[in-house]
Amino acid sequence: MGLNFREKAWILLGILCCSSLICSVKAIVTYDRKAVIINGQRRILLSGSIHYPRSTPEMWPDLIQKAKDGGLDVIQTYVFWNGHEPSPGQYYFEDRYDLVKFIKVVQQAGLYVHLRIGPYVCAEWNFGGFPVWLKYVPGMVFRTDNEPFKAAMQKFTEKIVRMMKEEKLFETQGGPIILSQIENEYGPIEWEIGAPGKAYTKWVAEMAQGLSTGVPWIMCKQDDAPNSIINTCNGFYCENFKPNSDNKPKMWTENWTGWFTEFGGAVPYRPAEDIALSVARFIQNGGSFINYYMYHGGTNFDRTAGEFIATSYDYDAPLDEYGLPREPKYSHLKRLHKVIKLCEPALVSADPTVTSLGDKQEAHVFKSKSSCAAFLSNYNTSSAARVLFGGSTYDLPPWSVSILPDCKTEYYNTAKVQVRTSSIHMKMVPTNTPFSWGSYNEEIPSANDNGTFSQDGLVEQISITRDKTDYFWYLTDITISPDEKFLTGEDPLLTIGSAGHALHVFVNGQLAGTAYGSLEKPKLTFSQKIKLHAGVNKLALLSTAAGLPNVGVHYETWNTGVLGPVTLNGVNSGTWDMTKWKWSYKIGTKGEALSVHTLAGSSTVEWKEGSLVAKKQPLTWYKVRETEESMNHDHQQS
Ligand code: GAL
Repeated sequence: MGLNFREKAWILLGILCCSSLICSVKAIVTYDRKAVIINGQRRILLSGSIHYPRSTPEMWPDLIQKAKDGGLDVIQTYVFWNGHEPSPGQYYFEDRYDLVKFIKVVQQAGLYVHLRIGPYVCAEWNFGGFPVWLKYVPGMVFRTDNEPFKAAMQKFTEKIVRMMKEEKLFETQGGPIILSQIENEYGPIEWEIGAPGKAYTKWVAEMAQGLSTGVPWIMCKQDDAPNSIINTCNGFYCENFKPNSDNKPKMWTENWTGWFTEFGGAVPYRPAEDIALSVARFIQNGGSFINYYMYHGGTNFDRTAGEFIATSYDYDAPLDEYGLPREPKYSHLKRLHKVIKLCEPALVSADPTVTSLGDKQEAHVFKSKSSCAAFLSNYNTSSAARVLFGGSTYDLPPWSVSILPDCKTEYYNTAKVQVRTSSIHMKMVPTNTPFSWGSYNEEIPSANDNGTFSQDGLVEQISITRDKTDYFWYLTDITISPDEKFLTGEDPLLTIGSAGHALHVFVNGQLAGTAYGSLEKPKLTFSQKIKLHAGVNKLALLSTAAGLPNVGVHYETWNTGVLGPVTLNGVNSGTWDMTKWKWSYKIGTKGEALSVHTLAGSSTVEWKEGSLVAKKQPLTWYKVRETEESMNHDHQQS
């Protein structure tokens, strides 16, 4: 038998392992220029992102089984630091954050894991996965050659690797993890910040390597990844990507199956045909690992969404937010995966020969001694093409690739969707009991309330709330002396500059107006005439954070909240600059403090019911109960 060294080593390992009482299958994971090699076998690996905190543990087995049925080999997930270490040294790995359980569910389904430890993740996740306390560690600068940052990053990365090792979750220990990732898309940041970025990349790579996981490390979008680390591509298309060394395989860590939804933005859509084409092109150009980002997007529960990111992270993924197959995407890709697997023997053993079949048509042929697979492509986006290949003719729709796993028979064309679709419509469930609504009015705080504090000048919101709540009150008094006149007899103009993200302005208890920013422009300016009377006028500003940024060079330096200038224009004595005035502050809303959004908390307050339910009243909590036994929904409306 002509076994190579790797194969012999694998058999030896297998024998060693099976002689122990518990026989888990241990394997060596390496790679070469063609592919990731598991147990001595080059593999074409199809992977999908499912982020464990974006679904519930009850959903995991079903999601993963559906991924397997859809033809995937690997589940990819980030590790979410801020979910696991809410305060320094206090770790949480329960419920939706039960990382070990998630990985074991994948293992039980017989799939592999690609663990993207980060711990920076981007991912439209609050603060890109960093705990907010990290920003307040003295001397902290994120993602650069900075000692406090490197120490914290190393500590968390080590913690995760240690956990994985203790649970024997790396492939070399008999577990499912075949690949890990350190950092995330650091290349563009390094390009902007220069030398300290380069030094950081080098350190990151050495630190990761030093953890001896036994499986390869990846850095995505990192053209200068050191030799020991595979650099990979992220994007809608990656066919022209080349790794930075001839010894590394061509891998695609994020093929975006749709896109995320931002506040107020359109719900994105990417056709199944286009995803299939992008995959076929990548494979025909020698690619051997593809991950769908996302395969199941899910939900941004609690306050985990990044700045101006919607609660739904559906992503137009093959499995929708609720875990149901999205057709025809799910099944069209499932058929593609089957065909790719038929081609696998040829793909891993030969390099493609490319020939032109026309102006915008090509054949990519992988031919070895015992196998042959061909990809016929038509890049013309508007017209179909009839091409001659191997003595036969083939009809290629516009913008499509046909796959011939035996170099003869067209098993699949990326533009021919042969999926019977049953579209899912959500229907209102009729109920016999009318909904019974209750309302509870949030109170506007006063400077004397418990928990308020005062100081001269405006303060940055997150430095005070530490992101325990989205809400922060700014309070001050505007005193108009009897002899003060408003110029031109009109109401004075109040102008408020805020670093973001939304602002409700109350004057003497009444809502005067609202202003908000957007993902592209989080800053906002409120500028409106307000009614003031002689004497003391109460100004209350409710500043609302809509998640924290998850991407950008040194986003830890970006501010939130009312930082000014705040001015009042049109008073007789000239423009008043209120920026340096004495302001009082209160963290959070009363409803939050009372937990009215929970069943227990909701029973502590008196809800107005029936005809007394508040209508069009700003800052009101609403609850609705369908029946006594069924669900209880509480919402805050502002
Ligand atoms: C990538 C990033 C992912 C995610 C994606 C957009 O650049 O690596 O974490 O943010 O963009 O959904």
